[in-house]
Amino acid sequence: MEKVNIRHSISKTLLFLLVVLFSFSQSFGQEKSASGQDNGEAIQAAQEETAGASDTAESAADGLGDPAKGKELFNSLCASCHKRYKRSTGPALNGVTSRHSMDWLYSWIKNSQAMIASGDAEAVAIYEEFNQTAMTPFPQLSNEDIDNILAYVEQPKPEPTAVVDGGAGGASGSGSGSGVSTDIILGVLAFVLLLLVVVLVLVNKTLNNFAAASGVELSKKETSGKPIWRAFAENQFLVIVTSIFFLLAAAYFAYGYLMQVGVDQTYQPVQPIHFSHRIHAGDNGVDCKYCHSSARVSKTSGVPSLNVCMNCHKVISEVAPETATEDFSKEFYDKEIAKLYNAVGWDATTQSYTGEEQPVKWVRVHNLPDFAYYNHSQHVTVAGIECQQCHGPVQEMEVLYQFAPLTMGWCINCHRETNVNLEGSGYYDKIHEQLSKKYGVETLTAAQMGATECGKCHY
Ligand code: HEC
Ligand code: HEC
Ligand code: HEC
Ligand code: HEC
Ligand code: HEC
Ligand code: HEC
Repeated sequence: MEKVNIRHSISKTLLFLLVVLFSFSQSFGQEKSASGQDNGEAIQAAQEETAGASDTAESAADGLGDPAKGKELFNSLCASCHKRYKRSTGPALNGVTSRHSMDWLYSWIKNSQAMIASGDAEAVAIYEEFNQTAMTPFPQLSNEDIDNILAYVEQPKPEPTAVVDGGAGGASGSGSGSGVSTDIILGVLAFVLLLLVVVLVLVNKTLNNFAAASGVELSKKETSGKPIWRAFAENQFLVIVTSIFFLLAAAYFAYGYLMQVGVDQTYQPVQPIHFSHRIHAGDNGVDCKYCHSSARVSKTSGVPSLNVCMNCHKVISEVAPETATEDFSKEFYDKEIAKLYNAVGWDATTQSYTGEEQPVKWVRVHNLPDFAYYNHSQHVTVAGIECQQCHGPVQEMEVLYQFAPLTMGWCINCHRETNVNLEGSGYYDKIHEQLSKKYGVETLTAAQMGATECGKCHY
């Protein structure tokens, strides 16, 4: 009878502890989702604030025209040379209406060269200031169009602090918030488990005391003469089976370990400039071969020299606010572009090279051992294989990593599976005729063409 009682009380304690644990985790879950809501509200509030700000901005520029229409015109006609708040090829346009009269602006924008030629003092001064760079004339624009453009450029610079504070504050809040609460949950769990152990030990002790006090004889386990390990050691069959098992397991792990030697799949070094393939090759759709131009014609693909970057970055000195992600802010990306300017010695304020250059030391990601020969043009141009087949979804990589294992097995497997593109290649016609007869097939894999011969890949 007493035994039954004892069991009851143990299971009751356990049940009680489980309930406590469960309610703990529940309340923490709620707290977390509640804080999530707070962040949502904070972000919304911040957005409303900025919406308000741009409302007032529009009303300030009301006298001029429609900033939305102006934005379109500005982006298509003027953005290549002008920025609203920063000097580019031409001056920053924000504030021009206070620098010049409207009539002056109409005639300047329609034909600035004519004004300079006519000797207008303001026109000549600004022309000289910008090293006599000619601005394109826009005779097609009506005064109304120009009003719209000016309304757009005269919008006050949006206060980034409101958005950044709200957004980033909210984001980091949620980040640290969830970090703290998971820590707390883990701490509480550890504490509860510790408590459980202590309680169990105590319960065990009291029960023993209780049993002793009420004179219950706790049956000691029957111990046979032999301890279990001795019984095991005397059974030869069991010993052999177990040792074979351990040997096989050891061999398995050793093989796995050795096969990994020299394989750097997923290697992802930190580069001197955070260059995002996602932004360039993905979002902006820049062709791989625009930058890696030698992939088509030579053994190596190479990494582009920095003057290739400057083809675009002379005018792209900062990223659009929409480019920022949760992990990387606009400020972060802008700083990375500043690093590029620093390296090529480009002064964005004067739009000229200073001549002070610092080479960028990109860290090489893919690297075959010296005894293996690999050629890009053979695969990219002759075989017509997409870069992504070997390098993975590069256009989605924020930071580039090695996608394929680059082992010999990887090369050979593909050579066995991939058919050679024989179309329109006079060089292949004859070989194809002979080999397809030899193998009795219409299509030939690279392997059947000899791409598994050691000498093709090893010097
Ligand atoms: C080809 C480049 C180029 C384009 C395109 C261009 N501009 Fe300009 N703009 C300049 C340059 C350079 C100057 C400085 C004066 C000079 O050197 O002629 C200038 C000056 C100006 C000025 C005088 C600014 C001041 O502070 O005095 C205004 C206003 C202006 N541009 C408006 C426009 C508008 C509006 C458009 C689009 C419809 C436009 N520009 C398109 C290059 C350009
Ligand atoms: C705007 C120029 C640009 C474009 C477009 C571009 N890349 Fe790159 N690529 C770079 C630069 C710079 C590096 C060196 C820095 C790095 O590794 O991230 C690089 C590195 C690489 C590497 C690693 C090289 C190594 O060290 O082993 C591979 C592979 C690569 N690119 C493939 C591609 C593919 C595939 C595409 C098209 C989807 C592409 N790239 C588009 C500029 C570019
Ligand atoms: C058949 C597989 C394959 C294809 C297709 C391929 N690559 Fe590679 N790529 C490699 C291998 C293997 C290496 C390592 C070469 C080495 O270390 O010698 C490499 C290295 C590179 C490198 C590092 C620099 C260099 O040349 O060694 C860049 C950059 C690169 N590839 C870009 C590209 C681009 C861009 C394309 C598409 C136009 C492309 N690759 C297509 C297999 C491939
Ligand atoms: C074909 C045009 C083009 C070329 C070439 C180009 N970029 Fe860019 N770059 C862009 C555009 C577009 C953006 C994104 C602007 C935005 O989002 O508002 C960008 C953004 C960036 C950024 C900020 C985002 C990021 O990737 O971290 C850096 C840094 C950058 N480029 C570096 C380089 C370097 C280094 C090279 C040369 C290897 C290069 N770019 C070549 C067009 C180009
Ligand atoms: C995505 C598939 C693929 C991968 C991966 C690949 N190759 Fe190839 N390779 C081909 C094809 C297809 C050809 C045949 C090209 C042709 O001549 O038309 C080829 C041809 C070759 C040739 C020329 C063979 C001959 O008969 O002349 C060599 C050498 C070669 N590859 C080396 C390598 C090496 C080294 C690797 C690994 C680092 C590799 N390849 C990985 C598809 C691949
Ligand atoms: C399609 C190209 C290709 C062919 C054909 C090829 N190999 Fe390799 N081999 C490689 C590459 C690539 C590596 C480097 C693999 C690595 O770094 O993990 C390699 C590595 C090796 C290694 C070093 C061990 C290792 O795995 O790293 C030996 C040994 C070797 N090859 C022998 C041979 C022999 C023998 C043949 C002919 C039967 C042959 N290879 C044919 C591409 C090839």
